[in-house]
This record gives sequence, C-alpha cells and structure tokens, in this order.
Amino acid sequence: MNQTTRKVYLSLLNQQGQAVSGEKIAESLGISRTAIWKSIQELKNLGYQIESIKGSGYLLTPSDILNPDEIKHLFNQNNLIDSVFLVEKSESTQEDAKAALLKNTPNYALFVARNQTVAHGRFKRAYYTETDNGIYMSLAIKPEKSFQEMPQYTILTAVAIVSAIKKLTQIQTKIKWVNDIYLNQKKMAGILSEATTNMESGQINHVIIGIGLNFAIQQENFPVEIQDKATSLFAKDNPTITKNQLIAEIWNTFFELIDKPFIDAYKRDSFILGKSISFIKNGVEYHGIADDISPTGELVVTLDESKKQISLSSGEISLSHFEQ
Ligand code: BTN
Repeated sequence: MNQTTRKVYLSLLNQQGQAVSGEKIAESLGISRTAIWKSIQELKNLGYQIESIKGSGYLLTPSDILNPDEIKHLFNQNNLIDSVFLVEKSESTQEDAKAALLKNTPNYALFVARNQTVAHGRFKRAYYTETDNGIYMSLAIKPEKSFQEMPQYTILTAVAIVSAIKKLTQIQTKIKWVNDIYLNQKKMAGILSEATTNMESGQINHVIIGIGLNFAIQQENFPVEIQDKATSLFAKDNPTITKNQLIAEIWNTFFELIDKPFIDAYKRDSFILGKSISFIKNGVEYHGIADDISPTGELVVTLDESKKQISLSSGEISLSHFEQ
C-alpha cells in the first residue's frame, strides 16, 4: 500500500461507518480526486470492501484484513508500541522480532503475520497455524532492566489476552499456568516469552513476547491429534470482531496493567487453583494440588504423597495432567 492509499484508507476509517465524499477526502488530504479513485481501486484489490454510494461518496465496511495502520489507529494513549510491521513471509514472528532487535528498533515494536512456516511454542513444540484464521504476533522490547526489575511478562500477557477478549466479546476464557489460554476446556492461545541478557551489564537487553491465538480456525480443521485439545475463539460462529481490533485491545490492556499489580487478576482467571495436577521433573512424574501462584509467578503445589509444599518455576516445568 503506497503512502497516498494509506492516507485514503485512514481517512475512510475515521468516518466510522459513514460515507465520505471524494471531494472531502481530496480537500483534507490535499490530493486530486483521480489519486483518490486510484487508491480506492488499490484498496478494493487488496480485499477491502468499499462501496461507492451515489451522492454520498465512499463507505468502508469493516473487514478482517490484517492492517498495521488500523492496529496503530486503535491503540490508546497508554500503548507504547511505536511501530507495527506486517511481515509478508514469516518463518516465525519471534525470529522477525529477534532479527529486528539486533538492528535499530524502537523500544516497543510489534511484528504480525498472516501465517508462519515454522511457528513454535515453549520447549520448541510446533504450533498449529492457518493463514488469516489466527493471530500471530511478537512484541520486541528493549527493557534494559535487571531480571528482578522486569514485569512478569508472561503473566501480564495472559491477563491482557483474557481481559481483551472479555471486553470485546463477553467470552470468558481461562488461564492454564503458565502460558496457555483455554476456552471450553481446550487450548485457544499460547504465549512464548523469550529474553536475552547483555553479558557485560548483566541487564536483560531484549525481550520477545510471542502470541499465537486461534481466532477463526474451524473446529474440524485442527489436525486429528489435537482435535480434542485445541479450539479457537470463533470455532463455529462467525467472528463478531476483527483481528485488528483484538490485537490492539490486547496491547492496550497490556500497557494499562504494566505498572499495576496484575497477579490477582491472573489468579482470578486461572482454572487450575485448588485442582489436581501432575508434572514431570527430572524424568519423575509427581502429583499434587495446585494451591497458589506466587507474586513472581511460580505455581505453589502440595505434593500428594509427602504433603510437602513446593514452588514450580515456569521455565522448567509444564503440567503433564490437570483437572479441568
Ligand atoms: C505455546 O503454546 O507454547 C506458545 C505458542 C506461541 C506461538 C506464537 S505464534 C507467534 C510467535 N511465533 C512463534 O513461532 N511462536 C509465537
């Protein structure tokens, strides 16, 4: 999309569902009506639904095409993301973010993709994706803080996802410690947070927060081996919101909460507290009850046999079984 087309698009978006005349756009952007007509054709070719209404002008119908301009347009004042990049061909937006962090990237830059060829989750597990039916994005952050001073990014992101979905759709999703979001007892989204340390200063210089959110993948489209385990936000019904809206709302909420205590919200939305869980440590499977989540995000468990209380760190443990 060229610069003029982008301006025309934003101008249509600003009308919030009202038609606007070519003359008015031409006047406010200082460009010719021919340039506007060309831009409208380009937008239509890109898949945008724009109606030409006789006597009124152009009307943009909200459509679900990933658009960095629209995402930025929906950011609020708390949101510190300066740049949003749509990566045309992505292996993984985590890798796009990492590569950008080695160059001159702003403090907060967001990388989004329609799909990825090598999407992965924690412990290098493959993550199932479908073009345009999921939200795939990674936020690159330059915190320059020590590990202790940093917010618990995974915890914060989980709360932001659940709150944003609830606000826009009224759908209540739940958190499975530490990084999974569940809907109807199935995984709907996953978070992958990675960090690198500057060896000289000992500070964390780069953090990458990846989100994979199954948005409108039809239930029967998930591979057989994960049919019973995975779902999407709109697995059966038509989406009531766009991906751009949800992306913006997730990061708006993230920045709204970043300086606030968010662990209570995490506990409130978590579904495993008080339930039976199992996990594998050093090749041995343990069973216990998930009692609490500590202020630093560890899962506090009372083991069934010894009745000993232990804290599990998210870096090393993932739950092998849990009561729903
Ligand atoms: C998990 O389930 O363990 C986390 C899944 C994270 C997937 C997202 S999709 C965007 C970003 N790119 C990746 O390769 N992974 C994350």
